[in-house]
Amino acid sequence: EPDFVTPWNVRQACIRSLEQGYTSYTANSGLLELRQEIAKYLKKQFAVSYDPNDEIIVTVGASEALYVSAQAFIEKGDEVILPNPSFLLYEAVLNLAGGDIVPVDCKMENEFKLKADDVAEKITDKTTAIILNSPSNPTGAVMDKEDIKAIADLSMDHDFMIISDEIYEKIIYDKKHYSPAKYSDNVITINGFSKTYAMTGLRVGYLNANETYSEELFKIHQNSIACANSTAQKGAYEALTGPQDEVHKMVNEFKNRRDLIVSRLNEMGYETVNAEGAFYVFPKIEDPDFVKKAADAGVVTVSGAAFGSNGAGHVRMSYANSYENIEKAMNILEERVVNG
Ligand SMILES: Cc1ncc(COP(=O)(O)O)c(C=O)c1O
Repeated sequence: EPDFVTPWNVRQACIRSLEQGYTSYTANSGLLELRQEIAKYLKKQFAVSYDPNDEIIVTVGASEALYVSAQAFIEKGDEVILPNPSFLLYEAVLNLAGGDIVPVDCKMENEFKLKADDVAEKITDKTTAIILNSPSNPTGAVMDKEDIKAIADLSMDHDFMIISDEIYEKIIYDKKHYSPAKYSDNVITINGFSKTYAMTGLRVGYLNANETYSEELFKIHQNSIACANSTAQKGAYEALTGPQDEVHKMVNEFKNRRDLIVSRLNEMGYETVNAEGAFYVFPKIEDPDFVKKAADAGVVTVSGAAFGSNGAGHVRMSYANSYENIEKAMNILEERVVNG
């Protein structure tokens, strides 16, 4: 998670809401003023229109939005195409819903970007959905516009749904984020405040989807969690409407760290893609003991295989830590793991 503290203006908005005793339930789908701002943001950023009254739901993080999407639309025996490797929660929510996972490899030769041609090969008459995640956890890959658009077209031609997890949409370097919602009606878009505004513990996310989907999503949301936390929603409103300089600062800092970690890993001889978003790199490291050796030396990494079979032979490293600590960690790896 981001190592930054939630911007002060956001924390202040939360404090103010508590001081004013703003501690009741909000509307089930979230504070109307927050939904209205989300609708404005979506329009401005991606040129898509969603009705704040019934096509946007404020959720308890992107996590709840993922859970609700799977519960609402995935039945036993449905096939769901899943990038391999991908964020662990996807497999978990699909398993809970009873769906069959159809993995599609995100290849290193394609900089781990999911390619529409590879997706097309996996479509059957049981395909119900695909989960997209650009920028990606665990690889940092940012999908190309052509692939987003082609997969959006496939979703219309073959009548399946796209669940697009866009939580890292703002943490992106010299690249533009494209949302499939611009090109297909069959999309549930998931986003949130955890990463962009460093507010993971406040637990606010949202989803937007056409009414055909949002009605079912709303039923599960309403009957499971009632509404997202009222104070945190006030913070989220301030995050969206207040100054954005902290976000720009964080993204610049992430980019400097990305440059550092990629160049140091490449110097050590580990082939590493220059990840274009999120805060992860996914170097090729075939030593099966690397993660343990690094941990013993004081550097925490995660085996790529934890994110899917195609992650084997890679290690996920997060650079959500200070520049100085990343330098220190790279020195430790170089001295004690690579040359040790
Ligand atoms: C790809 C991805 N989606 C969703 C989430 C969950 O986000 P939230 O804190 O909004 O539940 C994470 C958190 O690590 C993530 O990496």
